[in-house]
Amino acid sequence: MLRKLTKKFQNLTLATKLTTLLLIIFIGGITLSSIAFANLLNYQAEIAVKSRARFIFQNINAVRQYTNDEVQPVLERRLKGDEFALQTIPSYSARKVFLNLQKQDVSYNNFFYKDAMLNPTNLQDKADNFETTIVQKFQQANNLENTTSGYHWINGVKYYYIASPLAVKDSSCLRCHSSPDVAPKGMIKVYGTEHGFGWKLNEINGAQIVSVPANIILERAKQALLLAIGIITLVFAIAIFVANLWMKRYVIQPIKKVVRVAEAVSTGDFDVEFEKVSKDEIGSLVEAFTRMKLSLLMAIQSFEQQRPKG
Ligand code: HEC
Repeated sequence: MLRKLTKKFQNLTLATKLTTLLLIIFIGGITLSSIAFANLLNYQAEIAVKSRARFIFQNINAVRQYTNDEVQPVLERRLKGDEFALQTIPSYSARKVFLNLQKQDVSYNNFFYKDAMLNPTNLQDKADNFETTIVQKFQQANNLENTTSGYHWINGVKYYYIASPLAVKDSSCLRCHSSPDVAPKGMIKVYGTEHGFGWKLNEINGAQIVSVPANIILERAKQALLLAIGIITLVFAIAIFVANLWMKRYVIQPIKKVVRVAEAVSTGDFDVEFEKVSKDEIGSLVEAFTRMKLSLLMAIQSFEQQRPKG
């Protein structure tokens, strides 16, 4: 099989040989580089998405802290009796700020944020089965600095998620999250006494989770990959074209000329001259042929002189 192919290849013209060789290199090169690029770009897209997710975390936690340190003390002093304002709740402002972020930059619309809690104040924040396993893992590791990330499926859609543990680190939070007796009455009116209480200081009881559909990562990587393949293809196409042009002009045409002259000489026409145009291997070939023609001419002349004249 290979031998047959090699034989077939031997029979091709120089230009076709060159093009075939370059095409094989091109196809091999593009396959290998596509695989390498795909991995690299995927990795980079993942890093980009990760760093955005991390930005969301930091942003949300900063807003939380601001609400807790600056807004809550001032606003609560102005509230009367059992008046209650959602604006004093760190979690509420974090949610609002995230929504504003999405309004300002549509690319955040693909991101989802959730405070997934085992025992949430707002039932919207109740951890589902998958989120519960994440929280349990955090509880086992018992390290507040932990983060975890990976892929998971929701309703047939693949998501990339990144999560970090949630715990009450400040005793001021416990006023609303430890027992209904000490919680603001207004808050109880809205959220009831059934859930969102019994949290303990420094005990992991939830996870902040940012997720984004995985196809965003793949889509980004795909676009970059297509661009890279496009550029490589273009470069190779130009290379093949230029190589062929060069081959025709500097190799094939000079050889054809030598062949034409050699054919004329072989039929006895000694007036045609081999023409030397370059100093490369083809130039040497032309020189060799010129010497051969001269030797041939001399041989014929001396042969004719020795021939008895009739
Ligand atoms: C004035 C009462 C109050 C204080 C103080 C407070 N929270 Fe909350 N917290 C709430 C309410 C009410 C909600 C539900 C808000 C909503 O509807 O999203 C909530 C929600 C949360 C949530 C989202 C999950 C859930 O249970 O719905 C987390 C996490 C949370 N709080 C953590 C904290 C931490 C940490 C602190 C201290 C830095 C704190 N809270 C201080 C009242 C409070």
